[in-house]
Amino acid sequence: LLHKLRRSNATTGRLIQQLPHAVIIGVRKGGTRALLEMLNLHPAVVKASQEVHFFDNDHNYGRGVAWYRRRMPFSLPGQITIEKSPAYFVTEKVPERIFRMNLSVKLLVIVREPTTRAISDYTQVLEGKERKNKTYHSFETLAVDSSTREVNTKYKAVRTSVYAKHLEHWLEFFPVQQFHVVDGDRLITDPLPELRLVERFLNLAHGISRDNLYFNSTRGFYCLRFSRRFSKCLAGSKGRPHPDVDPAVLDKLRHFYRPFNQKFYQITGRKFDWP
Ligand code: A3P
Repeated sequence: LLHKLRRSNATTGRLIQQLPHAVIIGVRKGGTRALLEMLNLHPAVVKASQEVHFFDNDHNYGRGVAWYRRRMPFSLPGQITIEKSPAYFVTEKVPERIFRMNLSVKLLVIVREPTTRAISDYTQVLEGKERKNKTYHSFETLAVDSSTREVNTKYKAVRTSVYAKHLEHWLEFFPVQQFHVVDGDRLITDPLPELRLVERFLNLAHGISRDNLYFNSTRGFYCLRFSRRFSKCLAGSKGRPHPDVDPAVLDKLRHFYRPFNQKFYQITGRKFDWP
């Protein structure tokens, strides 16, 4: 925040905690952290660093909106606050709760090719198990039902990637214009054009430049430059190597997702080159 105040020459003005103007509602493993951190490069954007889990967690929700506001960072009145909690996208009660807080809040959804996202999701869980020295199932056994040989839609990592289904539930509360879909695969390879689209959606002037992002070949990702002296890459928990998955299972999943993807393109007006 200090960098930001310095950059915007804001020496006066009262710092306040504002409810979010925009929420990154998901998708888990879509690149939600990278999106939040990159948007935070913008002088007019302030982020809640932690996932707040206000709307998806009944205990937190019961603490009330004043509690939620107190979880928000300090900002100047002209700045906008953004929070991200990827569980929001797939949690049934969340759309209505967000609607009740602010029916005109802007909603950001970052997606990746669904099968890759499911494997990324699995990889995160696998790492957690390994850290506790526990064994875990292979992706193939979880993603495919052993008796029917069909895609196992009970497996959460599979279900989360059915983007159209989740989005349809959100559309019961918000018009489609209130959502902006970010291409998480492009955010990895070429982030700036995606960030420009988000700036436009949030009605922000261009505030993130090419100088703010540089490719770090050791990490294999773009990292963030806030000023000449301050830059950072995302934590090592982002960009884990994925396990090799049986190509027949990959085909099965891609085939399974295809109609849902078509639906998602149709609803959002954003087409991806997903297989
Ligand atoms: P993988 O770990 O599968 O590579 P989330 O923050 O929603 O959990 O998403 C994590 C994903 O963000 C990572 O998935 C990674 O590929 C992606 N990502 C996008 N841009 C990144 C960046 N600049 N640095 C690190 N990871 C990035």
